Amino acid sequence: MKCCTAPGCRAFESAFDAAYAEKDLVAYRKNGPTKPTRLLLQAIQSHVDVRGATLLDIGGGVGVIQHELFAAGLGQAVDVDAASAFLAAARREAERRGFADRVIYLHGDFVALAEAVAPADVVTLDRVICCYADMPGLVGAAAVRARRVLGLVFPRDTWWMRIGAWIVNLFERFQPDPLWFHVHAAEAVDAVAAQHSLALSFHRNAGLWQVRLYVPDRHADAFVQAGVEEM
Ligand SMILES: C[S@@+](CC[C@H](N)C(=O)[O-])C[C@H]1O[C@@H](n2cnc3c(N)ncnc32)[C@H](O)[C@@H]1O
Repeated sequence: MKCCTAPGCRAFESAFDAAYAEKDLVAYRKNGPTKPTRLLLQAIQSHVDVRGATLLDIGGGVGVIQHELFAAGLGQAVDVDAASAFLAAARREAERRGFADRVIYLHGDFVALAEAVAPADVVTLDRVICCYADMPGLVGAAAVRARRVLGLVFPRDTWWMRIGAWIVNLFERFQPDPLWFHVHAAEAVDAVAAQHSLALSFHRNAGLWQVRLYVPDRHADAFVQAGVEEM
């Protein structure tokens, strides 16, 4: 594991601590993936045969995407997370399931580490960009490494979500290491993906969240024609 030295990493360590990771892991073992993550997984598997494929899971938390895709035949994964407690929980669960030797765990801010991270067939950012101000930096570094599909879950950019974010951030102001909640515009995320020749191929809302999947431009039309999923 690499140390997280980028500015703001303390906020991730204190927000996503061992107690939070344990609670998430218990919930995952009991209930399986949450609805937005389930939709993301289904969309990924509609677009890509994951058997033998590689995954780059950025901000993977307790590793739900990795665990589910390994069960479906995934080959290898890289898990980059700024929170060491979440990385440790992901590794613990992978060991329990017998996949840990197929995962590389990197601790730190992905934007700072990206240069050293290889491209992967599937790249995911599940509920991650809402923790990060520099959306173009984070999504851009992810997009450039996505060989077959880039999948994101992030807050719906509605007026009520923005009010919710404002309230959350009001409380964050009193934290020693505030972690700001960001509602990024979907069009802005689409535009960053487009700069890296990725086109939107799937979109669905799930409660407070939206799931968006991007594929290389040259594949987008084929998926739409095949009726794999809605635009
Ligand atoms: C809300 S949690 C989501 C965890 C998991 N993906 C899920 O959906 O349950 C956000 C995670 O993203 C990580 N994260 C946020 N920004 C990051 C960045 N720039 N680089 C690496 N990890 C990041 C945090 O440390 C945290 O583990």
